[in-house]
Amino acid sequence: MAFARPSSFAMALIVASGAALAQPTAPEGERAWARIEQVLTSPRCINCHPASDRPTQTDAMHPHRMSVIRGPSNHGAPGLHCSACHQERNNAASGVPGAPHWGLAPRSMGWVGLSSGDLCRRLKDPAANGNRTVADLVKHMAEDALVLWAWQPGRNGRGEERKPPPLTIAELGEALGAWAAAGAPCPQ
Ligand code: HEC
Ligand code: HEC
Repeated sequence: MAFARPSSFAMALIVASGAALAQPTAPEGERAWARIEQVLTSPRCINCHPASDRPTQTDAMHPHRMSVIRGPSNHGAPGLHCSACHQERNNAASGVPGAPHWGLAPRSMGWVGLSSGDLCRRLKDPAANGNRTVADLVKHMAEDALVLWAWQPGRNGRGEERKPPPLTIAELGEALGAWAAAGAPCPQ
């Protein structure tokens, strides 16, 4: 009884000060977004997130050779599925990259050509992103095999190492945490 008031008051103080300390400002959130965007638009990611029906390849992001197309289920034409060439791991001998469930991101997840603000809003739009919350997006980018492949992209057919995205996975995780904590703000 005697403790009821002080303890709930103390709770309120802890909650209030915790919120004040933990809540980054909108400008901090937008700075974090700018770093996230550098990853999303890097070749390793965006080669699979085109606005068209063709994946792109290499740092030059040219259309995928051998007339590879999206196909009815984002896994290639009926006679030429991605898995005909892309296995669960990178193939060091042939230079074909690989990871589990290799496929093209659905059209609604095509990011090429969007402004920073439009990319940010598209990413957050449940109608476009596979019905994901911001927390789901953060989780996807921490765990998905195709996302993680980007930091182990292997060598191309000429034996050259593909470049990973411009942030480390840890840096991306920090940026995502700061962006989400600031309420996932998008630039204009
Ligand atoms: C081999 C192709 C491939 C690569 C490489 C790839 N993705 Fe994707 N991505 C997909 C596919 C396919 C989906 C849809 C899967 C789903 O909805 O579960 C997807 C979905 C996503 C989503 C959730 C949907 C959305 O619109 O937000 C995010 C976020 C994402 N990818 C981020 C990345 C990032 C970041 C990278 C690079 C570090 C990357 N992807 C690399 C194929 C790829
Ligand atoms: C006939 C074989 C073949 C098929 C089928 C195929 N690919 Fe590829 N793919 C390759 C080869 C070979 C490379 C490596 C090119 C290089 O790096 O020089 C490649 C590279 C890629 C890359 C570039 C990775 C990077 O960041 O540099 C992406 C993305 C990709 N393929 C997606 C797909 C998707 C999605 C499908 C199915 C819709 C598919 N591929 C079907 C052979 C194929």
